[in-house]
Amino acid sequence: MSEQPNPTEIDEPTPSQQQPGTAYPDVPAEAWSGVHRGPLREGEWVRLTDSKGRKHNFELQAGKRFFSNKGHLDHDDLIGREEGFTLASSAGGEYLVFRPLLSEFVVSMPRGAAVVYPKDAAQIVAMADIFPGARVVEAGVGSGALTCSLLRAVGPWGRVSSFERREEFADVARRNVNQFFGAPADATHPAWELTLGDLAEALPASGERCDRIILDMLAPWECLDAAAGALVPGGIVCAYVATTTQLSRFVETVRAHGGFTEPQPWESLVRDWHVEGLAVRPGHKMIGHTAFLVTARRLAPGQKPLRKTRRPAPGAYGPDYSGPRPPGLPVEPDPQD
Ligand SMILES: C[S@@+](CC[C@H](N)C(=O)[O-])C[C@H]1O[C@@H](n2cnc3c(N)ncnc32)[C@H](O)[C@@H]1O
Repeated sequence: MSEQPNPTEIDEPTPSQQQPGTAYPDVPAEAWSGVHRGPLREGEWVRLTDSKGRKHNFELQAGKRFFSNKGHLDHDDLIGREEGFTLASSAGGEYLVFRPLLSEFVVSMPRGAAVVYPKDAAQIVAMADIFPGARVVEAGVGSGALTCSLLRAVGPWGRVSSFERREEFADVARRNVNQFFGAPADATHPAWELTLGDLAEALPASGERCDRIILDMLAPWECLDAAAGALVPGGIVCAYVATTTQLSRFVETVRAHGGFTEPQPWESLVRDWHVEGLAVRPGHKMIGHTAFLVTARRLAPGQKPLRKTRRPAPGAYGPDYSGPRPPGLPVEPDPQD
């Protein structure tokens, strides 16, 4: 039986522990979250929304002007104010002023490669179980959109090791991540390391061990051995792939590898709603497809996944199928023979 502490022996919380978020009184609660509080400052990015819902993002610089089809606004009229106000431009346009949220920043920041959309980043953080203090590997870094979500989830005491094989994309990602987290010059988020190279070679060479691996690239199956070598038992591999052919190849490669649980593939669809008086209906526009997600858990060394009791659908691995084959699968006879 586990020993229960005697309630009289439990230490009284110190005054700083009694307040949520004050366990480390010297560290601001929002440190390295990418969130800034207080009045708007020079060098920060703001997001203006006009009455038609159009967005404008720019960096605040003393003495500068923002121009639109409705005249101009002086940056000095924004600096020093608490966000969440409306401001009129010289030609009568009205603008709502906020700091951009992470989900807004990643869809408006400069891009090298296509980004992971916020709806999918949220799925990755939840379903790949990214936790504070986690050691996460991701490749490729692309434009750094997913990196921002991963860094925010692991926090300054975790670790995100990003690998990218194209230098020009790594540069874009570095700028975006540093801008989002407000890193001082020549510094970056303390949990982040960016390595230039192909994950399939650079990860084994680094000797890194990790809890989670996220693969967002054209051919994630080529990196599965490297992922398996770095993941701790119970760790999660998660792939983000745009097409059904990539999805099939990755899932079958995971099965054929034998060192992972049965892969779980899915996609998420998000639909806005129009809610106005009696007119309550789904919005007309939606992002129909972004990508598919797959997760699987790393087994302990020498362990095998559970044998499937259900037979594959007829023809699933028939003569027309040429991809990786799950181990122990009998070859189906050609129905033409
Ligand atoms: C779609 S982008 C990643 C986008 C990124 N996740 C984001 O949210 O901004 C794919 C990136 O993977 C990189 N890549 C492809 N295969 C790779 C590999 N084997 N190792 C490292 N990077 C790779 C590509 O150069 C490209 O920048």
